[in-house]
Amino acid sequence: MRVALGVGGGIAAYKAAELARALQERGAAVQVIMTDAAREFVTPLTFAALTGKKVITSLFAQGGGDVLASAVEHIHVAQNHDALLVAPATADLLAKFAHGLAGDFLTATYLAFTGRVILAPAMNTNMWQHPATQANLATLRARGHTIIEPDAGLLACGTTGPGRLAEPERIADEVVRLLTARHDLDGETLLLTAGPTQEALDPVRYITNRSSGKMGYALASAAARRGARVILVSGPTHLPPPPGVELIRVRTAVEMRDAVMSHLEPATIVIKSAAVADYHVKEVPQQKTKKTAARWTIDLDPTPDILAEVGRNKGGRLLVGFAAETQNLVAEGRRKLETKNCDMVVANLVSQEGTGFESDENEVVLVMRAAGNVALPRNSKSAIAEQILDQVLKLRLALHEAS
Ligand code: PMT
Repeated sequence: MRVALGVGGGIAAYKAAELARALQERGAAVQVIMTDAAREFVTPLTFAALTGKKVITSLFAQGGGDVLASAVEHIHVAQNHDALLVAPATADLLAKFAHGLAGDFLTATYLAFTGRVILAPAMNTNMWQHPATQANLATLRARGHTIIEPDAGLLACGTTGPGRLAEPERIADEVVRLLTARHDLDGETLLLTAGPTQEALDPVRYITNRSSGKMGYALASAAARRGARVILVSGPTHLPPPPGVELIRVRTAVEMRDAVMSHLEPATIVIKSAAVADYHVKEVPQQKTKKTAARWTIDLDPTPDILAEVGRNKGGRLLVGFAAETQNLVAEGRRKLETKNCDMVVANLVSQEGTGFESDENEVVLVMRAAGNVALPRNSKSAIAEQILDQVLKLRLALHEAS
């Protein structure tokens, strides 16, 4: 594992020293690149001592070095590392990366780099939340880069909120996970749905369900790590965007249906783990419904069945539905498999304590056409997500062999 570690100029630059050490402890060879601003906070000597390597600080040879070699050194670094990790990634660096500016060694290396790019931002909360920074992050995510979200807490500038560099151990773990992941979904495009939908009753009230989005986000993260392009259509959740995933936020079942259908074309695999509301108010009143002593009766219409519509337009795609059941788990899973033209249904019992909705764990039965059923015992949602993807790949292979 060869990691080029770009250090940006922020208070958190000192934590990059800990990060360099944590990466080396995990077996990575680390080449540090510092921006001019970073050197205002920490000296190159610290990193040179920790890594045993010269720290790169400039595009041009310093003190009469080999001018020609230095002119192409950023290309050499770009070609000889598996990952470019930037920590702390300042607002300025994110903007330069997003817009392709290449005025110093780190930004020039970024442009020349074809391996995995991992960015761990750190900055003041207002800078982090500024629309300009968020737009740059969206651009970088859409390029497939991994953003390791900053932690929230008391910042050096005295404000409290998101913006603190993620802990070096967490960043190092994520880098290792990304670089050692299987790449068995390379070339696939996964269209995934996650979370609940919210259906308005009037301008201030809505109905929803208990989905947290954890199961769908775990699938999205796992698929991205395994090399797929992932388009995640998500209802409202409190989860951070999974690294390397194109996230489309929606609120209602109708919005989810429109987002799914308009992104169906490039998808090779569709997985529908969202808990879509089955009913909604078709014509939402413009004004808030006033409270009176009388009963309030609401007429609900069925929402569009997105899974069934994808099933009707499936083409050569592999289609995976979910079934949230409180009884007759396998029979209901099989009924949904057949009526919605799925290749697999992930059936989960949602009446059981500690699995299904909201929890960090799940226990499911994979219901398939020819391959029979596979029970996945209780495990973390991320482990279940990996097992679902393993089975998806087996199905893909079986379908190829059969055709
Ligand atoms: O989000 P978490 O808190 O992690 O919880 C995970 C989960 C329990 C929500 C998840 O594992 C799960 O079971 N998701 C499916 C929930 C659901 O809506 O199941 P269902 O049996 O009602 O629907 C069957 C399938 O049809 C699902 O794939 C659903 O996405 C789809 N559907 C349902 C209604 C609708 N209008 N359109 C649909 O596409």
